[in-house]
Order: sequence, then structure tokens, then C-alpha cells
Amino acid sequence: ARQQLVLAIESSCDETAVAIINAEGNMLANQVSTQIDFHARFGGVVPEIASRKHVEVIVGVVDAALEEAAEAMGLDAPIAPTELAAVGVTQGPGLVGALVVGVAFAKGLAAGAGCPLICVNHLEGHLYANLLAQPDLEPPFIFTLVSGGHTMLVHVKAWGDYEVLGETLDDAVGEAFDKVAKALGLGYPGGPIISKLAETGNPRAIDFPRALNRRGDYRFSLSGLKTAVVSYIEHETAAGNTIHLPDLAASFEAAVFDVQYKKAKGALHETGCREYCIGGGVSANPHLRRMMIQKLGRQGIRVTVPPLNACTDNAAMIAEVARRKFKEGDFASFDVDADPNMTL
Ligand code: KG4
Ligand code: ZN
Repeated sequence: ARQQLVLAIESSCDETAVAIINAEGNMLANQVSTQIDFHARFGGVVPEIASRKHVEVIVGVVDAALEEAAEAMGLDAPIAPTELAAVGVTQGPGLVGALVVGVAFAKGLAAGAGCPLICVNHLEGHLYANLLAQPDLEPPFIFTLVSGGHTMLVHVKAWGDYEVLGETLDDAVGEAFDKVAKALGLGYPGGPIISKLAETGNPRAIDFPRALNRRGDYRFSLSGLKTAVVSYIEHETAAGNTIHLPDLAASFEAAVFDVQYKKAKGALHETGCREYCIGGGVSANPHLRRMMIQKLGRQGIRVTVPPLNACTDNAAMIAEVARRKFKEGDFASFDVDADPNMTL
């Protein structure tokens, strides 16, 4: 091979994504096929539809990535699978039927190409998305994972050595955004819709509850806030008042992100870490990014946020994990299975 290329596949939820990275960390292809339109009418991801859509599009997405990489390398013909140095794939966590499609395809591709298979933890992918923005990020640091399925505050002591300081007791942050948007009849996914509305709203307009907001407590709870928003909507509607959506959105965001900030700051203080990063779909939120960069930055903490297109599910972040595992020779056996309940 002209270059050592690692192809990575992500299919844990409703995005079929394939990326190709070289040994130096240059992203030569980054393809994402989203199924959002097929799930939006149901107000959330329907697992059976997700699996079927992955099966339908995965060959095309892999081909598109092989072509994109060839173009990036100035070649006339697409990269042949036999030129790949390794195939990486998200093993979990996620929807089991969706994961199985990616894992089975990756095994077939690697076996056909005669190259090693590398299994990647999706949550570690969200963490490594930060390396795409800041290649010299080095532990120890504090990491906040805020996605549709997870909310975690993590002390990264070394690569691969994670202490989860706290998790959500109920809803994940992204899930709360999605449920609030649904209650307002605004569509799916809720995060981008709410964050757009919040831009022009007053975050102090409505005083929503901040749960488990005591120092040293790194657990999160979002269901009380979601209930408070729903009660507010019902109360105002019954009273004949029109709801000011930007104020509601901004006040909801403030309630969520104040807690995120306080706990991150507490964890940085307690561990003595001087470095902070964030990941997962909600880390695309401009309000959250600004808040962490400015407020923690003022305290001398170096804050890293992933590139915007590496916050929600993508294969570039999976490729970065796979590239590092490839260098270490950390290969998977061909009889591995998808693991829907994987944790950090
Ligand atoms: O990481 P991700 O793509 O999938 C999981 O691994 O769960 O995260 C998806 C979540 C959704 O709940 C979506 O509403 C949320 O990320 N999200 C946002 C924004 N963009 C996506 N939440 C808040 N603000 C955003 N701009
Ligand atoms: Zn994710």
C-alpha cells in the first residue's frame, strides 16, 4: 500500500458513517448517511427501521468513502479494499440490530481484504473526537459526554483509564432536548431546534430547576426538568397565554448547562486537572461550547471542543480510535459480537 489506511464504520444508531484515515491522522474520507428523515415522523429512532436502513446503504457509503479517499490522494481509481491496512468498527454501545450490521460488514470487509479487524467503543469515539481538533490533548483531564444516550462526567487519567465520576440517573441530556422539543410539537431531533430558538431568548426568563446541584455530587438528573418544562407549557396554555418559545428554550438550556458547568468545574478542582474537553451530540450546542470555553478558560483551564461535524455520530472519531489501536496492534478476533451495553 502507498499509505497505511484505516477504514472505520459507525452504525450504532441512526447514522451510517464511514471514514478513512492514514497513519499520520489525516482524514481522507468522512461519509455520513443520516436516517433522520425516516425516524422524524415517529418522534424518535425506531430500532427496526434503523437496522434495515443500515443494510440498504452501507455498501454505498463504503464505496463513497473509498472514492473520496482516492480523490484526496490524487488517484484516478477508488481505493481497493485489499489496500486497507485495517478495518475498524463501532462494537457498542447502541442499538443491537444497528450495531450488528456494521460489525458483520466490517468482518466481511476485513476478511476479504486480508487485514486486521479493530473494535471501537462508541463512547471512546466521542472522547477521541477532541483529538481531531486538538491532536496534542493528553491526559489527565476531565471529559463531559453529553449525547442522546449518555450523560457522563469522566476523569480521564490516561488513554484507556477512565474513572466515571457521575452519570445520569434518568434521561440523557440529548434525550431531554428531544423530549422537550416533542412536547412543544417542534420535531426531531430536538437539540438543533431548541438551540436555534434559544439564540434570541432570555435565559433568565423562566426559573427551571437545577437537579442534584450540590458540590461533590457528580450525578445528573434531567427528568424533573423535563417535567417542569411540560408543566409550564400546560399551565401557560390553560391560562390562555402564548408561550415565548425563545425564552423557554434559552431558560431550559440555562438549567441544563449551569449544572454541566458547575459539575465540570467541581471535578476539575477536585482532581487538579487543568484540561477539559467535551463530546457527544449536545457538544455541538453553541451555548454550551461558549460557556465552557469562556468560563473555564477564565480560570486557566485549557478547553477543547470537537469540530462541529464530529459532535453528533460520525465515523471520523471511530477512525481516530482505530488508527491509534492499529499502531498498538490492538486487533479484535473475527468472532467478536456487537455489544449494545458497552461502557467506558
Ligand atoms: O452523539 P449523538 O449523535 O448520538 C448518540 O450517541 O446518542 O447525539 C444525538 C443527540 C440528540 O439527542 C440531539 O438532540 C442532540 O444530540 N443534539 C443537540 C444539538 N445537536 C444535536 N443538543 C443540543 N444542542 C445541539 N445543537
Ligand atoms: Zn453518539
